[in-house]
Amino acid sequence: IGGERFSRSNVLQGWKGDGRAFDSDPMFYNPSNPIGLDGMWFTKDDGLRPQDCSPCIDAGIGLAATQVNHHIRLITIDISEERNSPMIFVNPEFEIINEDSHLSFEEGCLSVPGFNEEITRPDNIKLKWQDIKGEEHEDMPSGLLTVCIQHEIDHLEGKLMVDYVSPIKRERI
Ligand code: NI
Repeated sequence: IGGERFSRSNVLQGWKGDGRAFDSDPMFYNPSNPIGLDGMWFTKDDGLRPQDCSPCIDAGIGLAATQVNHHIRLITIDISEERNSPMIFVNPEFEIINEDSHLSFEEGCLSVPGFNEEITRPDNIKLKWQDIKGEEHEDMPSGLLTVCIQHEIDHLEGKLMVDYVSPIKRERI
C-alpha cells in the first residue's frame, strides 16, 4: 500500500494468544479515517496501484489498511483462483437490505493467527465505495465476497472477528 510492500510479518496482530487481552495499541482498535482524494495517501497522480497490494494478499484473501498500521479506510480483497486480481475498495460502506438473510462462513484473520471460527453475517447488502481514481461505485456483493468485505470493514471500525465469539470461547483462543 502506498508503494510499500507488505508481507505477513508486517501485519499487526490484535490477539496475543494464551487467552490474553487484545494488544493495547489504541490505533488498532479505533475507527479509521476516510481518505480524501487530495490526501497524502491518495492523489490522482500517484495513487495506489493494484500491484502494490497484491503481496499482502498473498498471505490471505483480504487485508485492511489498519492491519498494516495505516488508519485510512481502504481494503483490498482478492478472491480469484490465482490470487492475481486484487480489488481495492476506498471508503467502503454498506447497508443491510434484508436483515433476515444470512451466510455463515469459517473465517480466519491475519491479525488473529491460528484462529478460525464460523461467523454469521448478513448476505444481502448494498455496498458503496470509491475506486483509486475516486470514482463512486455501488454493488450488491454475494457469497465469499460479501463475507470478506464485511470482515475487512470491521477492521476499519476497530473490530476483529473475535468480537463475534463468546467470552468463554475467547479464553481458549
Ligand atoms: Ni482480518
